[in-house]
Amino acid sequence: VRPLGVALLGCGVVGSQVARLLLEDARDIGARVGAPLRLVGIAVRRADREREGLPAELFTTDAESLIARDDVDLVVEVIGGLEPARTWILQALNAGKSVVTANKALLAEDGQTLVAAADERGVDLYFEAAVAGAIPIIRPMRDSLVGDQVTRVMGIVNGTTNFILDKMHTAGAGFAETLSEAQALGYAEADPTADVEGYDAAAKAAILATLAFHTRVTLGDVYREGISDVSRADIAAAEAMGMVVKLLAICELEEDEDGTRRVSVRVHPAMLPVRHPLASVGGAFNAVFVETKSAGQLMFYGQGAGGAPTASAVLGDLVTVARHRVSGGRGARSAVYNELPIAPIGDV
Ligand code: HSE
Repeated sequence: VRPLGVALLGCGVVGSQVARLLLEDARDIGARVGAPLRLVGIAVRRADREREGLPAELFTTDAESLIARDDVDLVVEVIGGLEPARTWILQALNAGKSVVTANKALLAEDGQTLVAAADERGVDLYFEAAVAGAIPIIRPMRDSLVGDQVTRVMGIVNGTTNFILDKMHTAGAGFAETLSEAQALGYAEADPTADVEGYDAAAKAAILATLAFHTRVTLGDVYREGISDVSRADIAAAEAMGMVVKLLAICELEEDEDGTRRVSVRVHPAMLPVRHPLASVGGAFNAVFVETKSAGQLMFYGQGAGGAPTASAVLGDLVTVARHRVSGGRGARSAVYNELPIAPIGDV
């Protein structure tokens, strides 16, 4: 069987774990795919940096040539940010290569362009790692629950802010010192403002709402408030009422009496009764609580940030898209067929 070639774009917290696991577990991964997966190259900004345990000859600063190689079938993008990630993902899809990405910001901003390019070429675009790290939530929404009607999604989808709020509750810790700890543990974004001010959670909310309601929701549609104004006094007041403060991403399908439907998508700190299933989600863990017409309530829980957990989701996607190449097919499309208006925040 011909090996399938993988190009990895980015070698940060997540990318380095993906590369290591691909090399370490090559035998098992190949057996699960039904063909060997070969890491052809890793595109980075600076190739001269030492990257422990990874062969120096894999590194290149020329991403475009790497993507264009005939022996590259699958492209994994873990650089993050809008550009050059968008250009490179489109280059790969247009060349008929399957793409796995963890890029929540890009998907939330311009996911439909990527989906359209994948559909045009009949190749896979998978992005499980873009929302809630290791937790399987994208594929359950895209596949398992696609015959149902999702009515509400409520999630703790940012590990850094959950870690900070949890420490404020359990250790009476201050904001700044806890943020540094989250950064040291590899949870925080390169610019932690994206975590603290809720942009990261808002991007994930846009992706979840798009999948849940089969409608286009972008980052700009999401009402957003971060946790920088949450004080020790707020935490103490919540505790006195038997509540905890969590940063929630909430996506709801609203229906008026006349049947008009709208979606409401918002991220803000909220008080939850301690007995609510989301209230006990501690540390950098994430959880997504989904309500549907027929299945009722479901909860997805696990590690939402960090190199290895996020790499698990990337590799799951990579094995899946590779299997599709072997079998000559592709996975489910993310059909966006509704055009639901976004509820004004005053209505929330
Ligand atoms: N900074 C993100 C978080 C990483 O804290 O959840 C995962 O997207």
